[in-house]
Amino acid sequence: MKILVLGSAAGGGFPQWNCNCRNCRGVRDGSIRARPRTQSSIAVSADSINWVLINASPDILTQIRSLPQLHPRRRPRDARFRGVILVDSQIDHTTGLLMLREGEPLKIYSTANVREDLATANPILRVLESYCGVEWRPVPIEPGRGFDIEDVDDLHFTALPVAGKAPPYSPHRESPEPGDNIALVITDRRSGKSAFYAPGLAEVDDRIAAAMSRADCVLVDGTFWTDDEMIRQSVGRKRAAEIGHLAQSGSDGMLAHLARLENPRKVLIHINNTNPILDEDSAERRAVAEAGIEVAFDGMEIDLV
Ligand code: MLT
Ligand code: MN
Ligand code: ZN
Repeated sequence: MKILVLGSAAGGGFPQWNCNCRNCRGVRDGSIRARPRTQSSIAVSADSINWVLINASPDILTQIRSLPQLHPRRRPRDARFRGVILVDSQIDHTTGLLMLREGEPLKIYSTANVREDLATANPILRVLESYCGVEWRPVPIEPGRGFDIEDVDDLHFTALPVAGKAPPYSPHRESPEPGDNIALVITDRRSGKSAFYAPGLAEVDDRIAAAMSRADCVLVDGTFWTDDEMIRQSVGRKRAAEIGHLAQSGSDGMLAHLARLENPRKVLIHINNTNPILDEDSAERRAVAEAGIEVAFDGMEIDLV
């Protein structure tokens, strides 16, 4: 199985258009060593021909343009994605769907909750009906149930409901329900290798820790280093926990959870522009590297063989 990182940043990207934080300023003027990053999305494939898109970011056209693996090659019109899985209904994970309106009906796989948000409060799926059309497929969240993507026989998917937040526009924002946010386990049926993907993870409970420990690679919420990062840098009023993300530092932070995993390759993904790990010369980035954890970047390819 191949995992291709289309976009490794959180909502807003890096640098963010209106942000003058140390990182955003530094990457613009070259005063820090850091790579720009687009918004959160990955693709997976068993054969490098047919891909499954996981989340569709507003940067999707730029992402496809810069990744030859995803270019049309075989027919006059040649979408390389056989389907799109959405892990939530956040703007950064869904608005790219509107950019894919020129082709065949989009096969969209999501929970019922995500479908509801995208058919009502933010009716992207309804809008698409007037363009390419949508074939929606349910993602089950009951324990032990998985799902497949049509025409992608070698990959199998399992969704786990996770603690997180529905988007600000969602009726579920302050009354969370299972299915608002999911983690995905992606398994290659031929090799048996698996990846755990959760760009938004507010809490690592025993069930999530167990799923992570069984995977060969985990790509997990790397949004914030500290819970009060945006407040400290005077760029926002919200804490990480309030918007559904577990910070990396601290005794119960993401790094502490990752330290307990023996098997998997460990990758932080969905990184907010304020996070000091984006500065390749920072102490925080060094701490992450010393813990054997990688920081995802756009175009990163992970080959699980
Ligand atoms: C989040 O995951 O919290 C988002 O990146 C927020 C957003 O898209 O605005
Ligand atoms: Mn996000
Ligand atoms: Zn910034």
